[in-house]
Amino acid sequence: MKVAVFISGRGTNLQALIDVCAQEDTPAEIGLVVSNRPAAQGLARASAAGIPTVVVDHKTYDDRESFDAALDTAVTRAGCDFICLAGFMRILTEDFTRKWRDRMLNIHPSLIPAFPGLNCHARAIEAGVMISGCTVHFARPELDAGPVIAQAAVPVLPDDDEEALAARILEAEHRIYPMALKLIAQGRIRIVNERVRIQDGSMADGMLVNPAKS
Ligand code: GAR
Repeated sequence: MKVAVFISGRGTNLQALIDVCAQEDTPAEIGLVVSNRPAAQGLARASAAGIPTVVVDHKTYDDRESFDAALDTAVTRAGCDFICLAGFMRILTEDFTRKWRDRMLNIHPSLIPAFPGLNCHARAIEAGVMISGCTVHFARPELDAGPVIAQAAVPVLPDDDEEALAARILEAEHRIYPMALKLIAQGRIRIVNERVRIQDGSMADGMLVNPAKS
């Protein structure tokens, strides 16, 4: 499995994916890192790991269709057959999402379907929820939606501001995203009626993972 990782910023989730792909029992390699921002810090993480990078700057494209076509070309040229969105802050077209259906993952820092989209931490605090978290899911055309592979629940503490909550959730992201990618690379994930079935969910270690077994 050859994975393209799409980023827009710091790339801490990218780093977690790089690290898991270095493990022997993860039959996946990252073949390309794509950033829509030339200054994304994550690009340096990729280079440090010897992974090719490409910048596809959305500002230089007239519309979403041509931007997405450039993304698709980059991924295909690199010989990648799977995409991980890791803090990629652009909305993809329906065509692109359809082409990569069931071959594209996203991570979102909330327990979807709660709080999709931007400012999810502020909205969780504002709503007064006591538990938030993060979700790894297959991407669908709707924003931050799709079959859920793994979720981690994270408490929202009374004095949390956005930054404190985001930092606590980010730690959980770094556990569940690599876990999800590993499960897929090992061929242990199936989608049945838009729900994820995981073979031997026992491998889920210290997190809430969809416990349904096939
Ligand atoms: C992460 O918290 C990720 O879940 C979020 O952006 C951050 C990227 O951080 N993604 C979204 O909000 C997608 N809707 P990172 O660049 O350090 O991985």
